[in-house]
Amino acid sequence: MDEMDYENRIVASGYTQDDANEQSLRPQTINEYIGQEKVKENLKIYIEAAKNRGETLDHCLLYGPPGLGKTTLAGIIANEMGVNFRVTSGPAIEKPGDLAALLTNLNDGDVLFVDEIHRLSRSVEEVLYPAMEDYALDIIIGKGPSARSIRLDLPRFTLIGATTRAGQLSAPLRDRFGVVLRLELYTPEELAAIVRRSAGILGTSIDDEGALEIASRSRGTPRIANRLLKRVRDFAQVLGKGVVDLESAQLALARLEIDELGLDNIDRSLLRAIIEFYQGGPVGLETIAAVVGEEAVTIEDVYEPYLLQLGFLGRTPRGRVVTPAGYEHLGIKMQGQQKLF
Ligand code: ADE
Repeated sequence: MDEMDYENRIVASGYTQDDANEQSLRPQTINEYIGQEKVKENLKIYIEAAKNRGETLDHCLLYGPPGLGKTTLAGIIANEMGVNFRVTSGPAIEKPGDLAALLTNLNDGDVLFVDEIHRLSRSVEEVLYPAMEDYALDIIIGKGPSARSIRLDLPRFTLIGATTRAGQLSAPLRDRFGVVLRLELYTPEELAAIVRRSAGILGTSIDDEGALEIASRSRGTPRIANRLLKRVRDFAQVLGKGVVDLESAQLALARLEIDELGLDNIDRSLLRAIIEFYQGGPVGLETIAAVVGEEAVTIEDVYEPYLLQLGFLGRTPRGRVVTPAGYEHLGIKMQGQQKLF
């Protein structure tokens, strides 16, 4: 891969215009980052300790549902350590040579962020092990009996891996991360603070009730909160007084068909499908996926975490079930079958 390709790959690793817009809302320092208090407290210690020793930070694994700020946090770590931040993703690193090109272009101390690290291929992972452990690349030269292995030293770097599914990482890869941090869904109060901060950056007037209304319908997820803020701002600007308040937030969210708990049409049709076709479950994930026309992994990563947290969906060894609270939210009466609860 030549230099140009390498640069393209960094830029072209699945990031969109939306991500570019989101970029301006991203906090740059750990003190600007709202929520995830336990994660931040521990990280501050690791960063300070590494800096005091004049060392690079240990490799870090960030995991949790999408949209919680894993990329943001990785950027903050690089910033706080005062090093370069290089971004790529598991699916973008197709061949061992791609990874070798990335690693040999790093400077001492750099952070290499690999999003969706669970999607690295086995052959790429094999190259990563000695790189993480010994800061070395083992390169095989030649074929057959004359093949030789040479070891190339790499700069000391910090790998930050992000994944929505820590369980899908191979054990050898997981074991090579010295720091493992799990991000949790945010509380409405934390999200309201994020929304107020974002509104400030966007130059949008907002009041506390408006911020809390958006926050409490954002499924615990800053990415959703920031997206809803932008849509509410549009409605407020065109149909209202230009202020994001309770009235404009409620109007916009009703138009977006997002209910008072933040469920959208897909969430509701998922619950309804289990109730209508499978008497509330239990039913397997693949079956649900087929019925609602989404991929099973999307359901598992994107829709389920919040429905599970709300207690509308339950997981049993025989599949997913809609709970009494789920029925109640949809306004559907439970039939006799749900004696599981
Ligand atoms: N934007 C997205 N996530 C954020 C966070 N945790 N704190 C502040 N701003 C954010």
